[in-house]
Amino acid sequence: MLDFRSDNTHGASLEILDALARANGGSVTSYGGDAITARLRDRVRELFETDCEIYPVLTGTAGNSLAIASMTRPGDTVLCHADAHVVRDEDGAPQFFSGAQLAPISGARGKLHRDDLPSGAACLSLTNATEAGTVYTPDELRALTRDANHRVHVDGARFANALVSLGCTPADLTWRSGIDVLVLGGTKNGLLAAELLVVFRKNLDLTTRIHRGGHRVSKMRFVSAQLEAYLSDDLWLRNARHANVAAQKIANGIRDVVELVQPVEANVLFVRLPQRPKDVLLYDWPIYGSDVYRVVTGWSTTDADVQALIETLTRSASGGPARPAALRA
Ligand SMILES: Cc1ncc(COP(=O)(O)O)c(C=O)c1O
Repeated sequence: MLDFRSDNTHGASLEILDALARANGGSVTSYGGDAITARLRDRVRELFETDCEIYPVLTGTAGNSLAIASMTRPGDTVLCHADAHVVRDEDGAPQFFSGAQLAPISGARGKLHRDDLPSGAACLSLTNATEAGTVYTPDELRALTRDANHRVHVDGARFANALVSLGCTPADLTWRSGIDVLVLGGTKNGLLAAELLVVFRKNLDLTTRIHRGGHRVSKMRFVSAQLEAYLSDDLWLRNARHANVAAQKIANGIRDVVELVQPVEANVLFVRLPQRPKDVLLYDWPIYGSDVYRVVTGWSTTDADVQALIETLTRSASGGPARPAALRA
């Protein structure tokens, strides 16, 4: 069965499994005092061209919640997009960890716009690539962060997809654009289970909160080993590029017959269809309409799957037999 429900349904890259096997040997200092975590820290500083701190965690929800907690006090307000994962899909975890409240704000294409942001919030939470499959550019980020007093968190579950979509540097898309903490996604893009808090702002207390929040992983070497392999030899960018290219192929293959509800800028598409397509697993996406479905590509999506999906969606849109996109005039 074709499966385009989520990038979480993909397995792990072989490079990651190899790195885990290599990390398995010997007795090693626990809780992040190991050589792999030290190398990872150096690599992240090199990649982001700055002196940042890193904290490997196991889920994006924990990363987002701990990041927000480190930048707020109980009762503070956190601005976020109304469709953000932090407010829709984390069951109150950011509020649970921080005691702050989320203030959801609507915005076209899954993005926040400066004129819509009220003043006085302690924190701004952005997602890049967004939940709508669009991407904030460095200019757009700077417009949101410039002259503002709030601290800024980025949910980067699909940060690598945003990066390859824009072709800019990790520094341009984060601290040079006013971002204080990035939760760099890995699990959706070829890791088993690893995300990385990258902290650019000084004097945020993540260490205590991570311990108190149950995310001080004793055998940290295995989390760090995944992230080190991910950020070596451009694996994170190669995997993300693969997923983005597949999404573009699908968009180009169907756009004449299927409405794309959002611009396709990363690895997530939203399609409006008169009937639920057969032979493919997709999630309904009712926030865009009862006839809208989400299509997500991933690092291991094959060309054969892409072609089969194009045919299925085309058939579903027309109600008749599909003509493969490649054969269309
Ligand atoms: C935008 C976004 N942020 C964060 C996450 C991380 O979620 P999890 O806690 O399941 O790792 C997801 C996963 O679906 C996501 O789509």
